[in-house]
Amino acid sequence: MPGAEEFVVTPYEVRGRVDYDRLRELFGTQELTAALLERIRRLAGGELHPLLARGIYYTHRDLGGLLDAFEGGRPFFLYSGRGPSGPLHTSHLAQFEICRWLQERLGVPMYIQITDDEKFWSRAGLTREETIRWGFENLYDILALGFDPKTTRVFFDSKSIAALYPLAIRVARKIPYSSVKAVFGLEPSTNIGWIFYTALQTVPCFWPSWAERTSVPCLIPCGIDQDPHFRLTRDIAEGLGYPKPALLHSRMVPGLLGEAAMSTTGGSPENALFLNDPPQAVERKVRNAFTGGRATVEEQRRLGATPEVCSVWALWKSRFAESEEVFTRVTADCRSGKMLCGECKGLLLERVHRFYQAHEAAREKVKGWAESTIITSPPAGLES
Ligand code: TRP
Repeated sequence: MPGAEEFVVTPYEVRGRVDYDRLRELFGTQELTAALLERIRRLAGGELHPLLARGIYYTHRDLGGLLDAFEGGRPFFLYSGRGPSGPLHTSHLAQFEICRWLQERLGVPMYIQITDDEKFWSRAGLTREETIRWGFENLYDILALGFDPKTTRVFFDSKSIAALYPLAIRVARKIPYSSVKAVFGLEPSTNIGWIFYTALQTVPCFWPSWAERTSVPCLIPCGIDQDPHFRLTRDIAEGLGYPKPALLHSRMVPGLLGEAAMSTTGGSPENALFLNDPPQAVERKVRNAFTGGRATVEEQRRLGATPEVCSVWALWKSRFAESEEVFTRVTADCRSGKMLCGECKGLLLERVHRFYQAHEAAREKVKGWAESTIITSPPAGLES
């Protein structure tokens, strides 16, 4: 993708200023239309989730078909995952927050994949001990969002391999090396674990169908950077007798420093609010964050600021504005120059500190049951 607006989005690299309309065309995903959002709202009851209402989720694959089936009485399951390369930051929560909301509102099961193997293969600097430790730390953070222990199951790759492997064998035979190379841009020196890995990310899409011996549709809310994995999944699904997973894609939330997307590998720790940051670090990062403010107070009062380029506004939008009313007011007062950046940051920080406190308490509770959600063996009667 040459040119002035160069950007790269793959599961292993997000770089540059992403043009999301162009990305949708490049990836060939479908627009999340107002009509589809209205259908979700109706099925879920009440207000649409802010991540949907505010356009953070913006494209999909086959969502309409999945909703048709659901309305016709055919349940689906949710699937999403996390590569445990370090602590989660607040923007990582978007994909799980939307899953939690759909689980609660639609009463559907959730499968979470923790890919300690993937990150060991794709990040040369990480040890096995680290990817396992972060796997558990990340899992606690995810479950603490409020997932239902009764209908949430986890594939923690290295612990769940006996459950995953029978399907991985079948999946891997269907994926040509040339596709993996083309889709992920891997090098001749890439280790073979990483080349194989995408097979394991596909397995949870099919696992419930396999376990229940019937076709169970799958919906994957994820960052759009993960779409390439699931294009491979969708190509091979029918050949294995499983439904193609549907997808719901989000934009990548911009980093606090204002340039690259937060998921950029090896980015500065100052670029995001990590869930294990102490309050002083949270305070410092927000206070130093890049904004859409003007050079002087006088100018900002007169001309207003630009929320669309502001990393603090992105935090309000993606997580911390608790109501549409608050979000609309913050946005309007920023644009008009009524509220300056320092005040805005202070108001945001109140919300962030409150969230961290509540999250810490929820996380401690989750530790008591988190391990019991991990699937460790294949479904009874299969592959024995
Ligand atoms: N590859 C993802 C990551 O690096 C982890 C992952 C596994 C995932 N399964 C998924 C992400 C399903 C989204 C949906 O973080």
